[in-house]
Amino acid sequence: MFRLSKKEKITKEEENKPVEDLMNALKIEGQRLPENYEVVENYPLKPPFSYALILREKDTKELLYFVDEISLDRREQEIYMKLKEVLEAELQAPEDDETPVQSFRRQFPEIIAKHRDVLKDISQVGIKKIEFYLERDILGYGRIDPLMADPLIEDISCSGANKPIYLWHRKYENVKTNVFFGSEEELDDFVMRLVHKAGRHVSIAFPMVDATLPGKHRLAIYYRKEVTPLGTSFTIRKFREDPLTIIDLIQNETISLEVAAYLWLLVENKFSSMIIGATGAGKTTALNAIAGLIHPQQKIITIEEVAEINLPRENWVSTISRAGFGMEDKGEIPLFDLIKSAVRHRPDWIIVGEIRGEEAYVLFQSLATGHGGLCTMHAEDAETAIKRLTQPPMNIPSTIIPLMNCIISVKHVKAPALVEFGRSFSKRKFVKVSEIDSSRRIRDVFVWDSSTDTYKMELSDSYLFERISEKWNLPLEYVYEEFERRKDILYYLAEVNIRSCHEIDEFLNKFYNDPKSTYQHIFESR
Ligand SMILES: Nc1ncnc2c1ncn2[C@@H]1O[C@H](COP(=O)(O)OP(=O)(O)OP(=O)(O)O)[C@@H](O)[C@H]1O
Ligand SMILES: [Mg+2]
Repeated sequence: MFRLSKKEKITKEEENKPVEDLMNALKIEGQRLPENYEVVENYPLKPPFSYALILREKDTKELLYFVDEISLDRREQEIYMKLKEVLEAELQAPEDDETPVQSFRRQFPEIIAKHRDVLKDISQVGIKKIEFYLERDILGYGRIDPLMADPLIEDISCSGANKPIYLWHRKYENVKTNVFFGSEEELDDFVMRLVHKAGRHVSIAFPMVDATLPGKHRLAIYYRKEVTPLGTSFTIRKFREDPLTIIDLIQNETISLEVAAYLWLLVENKFSSMIIGATGAGKTTALNAIAGLIHPQQKIITIEEVAEINLPRENWVSTISRAGFGMEDKGEIPLFDLIKSAVRHRPDWIIVGEIRGEEAYVLFQSLATGHGGLCTMHAEDAETAIKRLTQPPMNIPSTIIPLMNCIISVKHVKAPALVEFGRSFSKRKFVKVSEIDSSRRIRDVFVWDSSTDTYKMELSDSYLFERISEKWNLPLEYVYEEFERRKDILYYLAEVNIRSCHEIDEFLNKFYNDPKSTYQHIFESR
């Protein structure tokens, strides 16, 4: 369907066909391809209106993500402008049971019927094209709408007007796009609209905003030239509707079966873990996947600045901090207050999206009172993480550091070894899993070796396995046997692709209610 020559007229029989067929019949031409590029791959975004083309420059081999959207001719553009004004004035708010898109699609024919005169001489296909652009620009994400529609895109970043938007693509990594904002004014207006979509406010007085867009995408903004001399810029971290689970992480080799089985035993025994790593290393994803191993009946309260954690289960309360209003930050509800109040809601687990400041102290206090805890923190390694915890502004007394039982380092690795093994070039990995024992010694239980892409496992040095054995009142050997059984179970789940959050919850429920026969069943089906 893509990039074929344009046919000017449609025949009489074609006129009665559904619009999509008509569009195919017309084979509407998209944008012109830039010179000296070859197509690596193309796939539909919102067919038949927009497609993604991955192009490669023939000499430099540089990749370009080319958004190929149907174009409007001059007459269609004029009508688009007129109808946009009409719609902005006449569109009613959605009804209770409607989404904004459903509401738009219901009202659109009624509104254009009232303004038939505007559409004089325009074909059915023309109307469909105009409707596509109106929906894209009024309800959707305008210029970046096609990028938002691509599930392979993780991040979208714009560092100013007249500069190409960059993105992080799951397959091609950092790629430049052909999408850009043509002027500072257009970009500022767009960002203002994004912030409103997120129900927040941006102005010269408050030029930095972190917010959540509908669909839970994370938005970070610098507005105008207050803190960014080159003008407005923004970044969107796209949200996965269907979050990655522990089984996904096994399947995509972020972790081994052993690491997963070990973490499962830790979570089951309410040991706390902190996930550390650099920006975009996969900390929040790891946190979410590990939290998915919590007993489905236990109560979880999550505490974040921006809603990213996604645990689609019943006994979960998500809390989000609130920025203050006005110059004095009146009404501010920081993470600190949320963690303090979470304890009063009798959670089994307190999960803090990311700790940075004094809220770390309250988290440790809650660990001291027997709550399970999970959090992430920006840090290179366990030693640096502990140092940061004990220094201002966190100020955790070093005596209570062992309340954080496990530190997991995650990394976005680009090891040549991965290429040699015929796999993709970059991967997220849990590169180290370490325990903190009662005398604050760090014991590395799993260390990933980049040259072989395998883990060195030192479970014989595991302090937490000893503690599990004490908790269970069973010999240490039993804990090792249980570890092996958990590996079998995880292997089975990965094998039969029981992977979504709901499927894992359902399985855990069954398992915790009747571990013996659930395991037996799996063992026999091997
Ligand atoms: N193990 C993984 N496998 C595949 N994709 C992953 C994995 N971990 C993270 N990702 C993807 O990488 C992106 C960044 O992940 P995530 O938000 O977890 O990173 P982060 O370390 O929390 O980032 P930040 O420092 O910005 O908070 C997301 O789009 C996520 O879907
Ligand atoms: Mg994060």
